[in-house]
Amino acid sequence: MAVVSSPPSSSSFLLIFFFLVWITLAQTPIPAKYDGFLYGGNNNYVWGDSVVLEAFLDPMCPDSRDTWPPLQQAFEYYSPRLAILVHPFPLPYHSNSYTFCRALQIANKLNSSTTFPLFELFFKYQEKFYNAPTYNTSRASIIEDLSNLAVAVIGKDSLPAFLSGFNDSQTDIATIISFKYGCSRGVPGTPFFFLNGIPLPGYGSALDFQTWRSIIDPLFVKK
Ligand SMILES: *[C@@H]1O[C@H](CO)[C@@H](O)[C@H](O)[C@H]1NC(C)=O
Ligand SMILES: *[C@@H]1O[C@H](CO)[C@@H](O)[C@H](O)[C@H]1NC(C)=O
Ligand SMILES: *[C@@H]1O[C@H](CO)[C@@H](O)[C@H](O)[C@H]1NC(C)=O
Repeated sequence: MAVVSSPPSSSSFLLIFFFLVWITLAQTPIPAKYDGFLYGGNNNYVWGDSVVLEAFLDPMCPDSRDTWPPLQQAFEYYSPRLAILVHPFPLPYHSNSYTFCRALQIANKLNSSTTFPLFELFFKYQEKFYNAPTYNTSRASIIEDLSNLAVAVIGKDSLPAFLSGFNDSQTDIATIISFKYGCSRGVPGTPFFFLNGIPLPGYGSALDFQTWRSIIDPLFVKK
C-alpha cells in the first residue's frame, strides 16, 4: 500500500533500487584475472594471433579425462598458435568434484606449474572418487585422500600449505567463480568447448586428435 500511495517518482525510484539490488545479488564477482588455467605456462599469448580454445572440464568426469590427451596433442601440433584455457567445472551430480576443483585452485595459487600435473593425476585416479565408492566417505576423508595423492605432484613440503588452502576463502571464491562463469556461458555439461568464443556443438564426449584437426585447420586457412 505504501508504494501505491507514494508519488510515481518515488515508486519508480524504489523499483530501480530493487532492480539494482537484484542485479548485484545475481552478478558473479569480477575476478582480478580472466578465469581459467592457461595450458603450457604464461608464455603463450592468448590473444593476438592464437586460436583460443576454452575447455570446461570436470576432474571427476570420464569424458573430460579422455578428452585431455588429444587436446594436449593438438596443443603440441599447433604450438605456438593454439592457446588452451581450461576452466575447472564441477558438475553438481559428481559429489566430490567441487573439492577436487578447489584443490586445483589451491595448487595453482601455491605453484602454478603444478596445476596441470595435478589435473592429470586426478583424472588418473578419478574412479576411486566417484559417487558410489565414496557414498559413506566424509568430505574430511576425501580431502585427506586427495591430499595424500597430490603429494606426488606438489611435494611433501607443500602439504601443510596445501591443506590449509581448504580453509582459505580465496580458493573457495575462485572455485565458485569458475562454476558461475561456466553457468553464465550456458555450459550444461563436460567436456564443453568454445573456440574463439564460439561454443562447439555436441558437448559431453571426448574429441580425438583428427576431429580437432578437422575443426582447427580451416581456421588457419582462413587467416
Ligand atoms: C613449482 O613446481 C614445479 C613443478 O613441480 C617445480 O619444478 C618448481 O620447483 C616449483 N617451484 C617452487 C617455487 O616450489
Ligand atoms: C554405508 O554405511 C552404512 C551404515 O554404516 C552401511 O549400512 C552401508 O552398507 C554403507 N554403504 C556403503 C556403500 O558402503
Ligand atoms: C581449518 O579450519 C578448521 C576450523 O576452523 C580447523 O579445525 C582446522 O584445523 C583447519 N585446518 C587447517 C589445515 O588449517
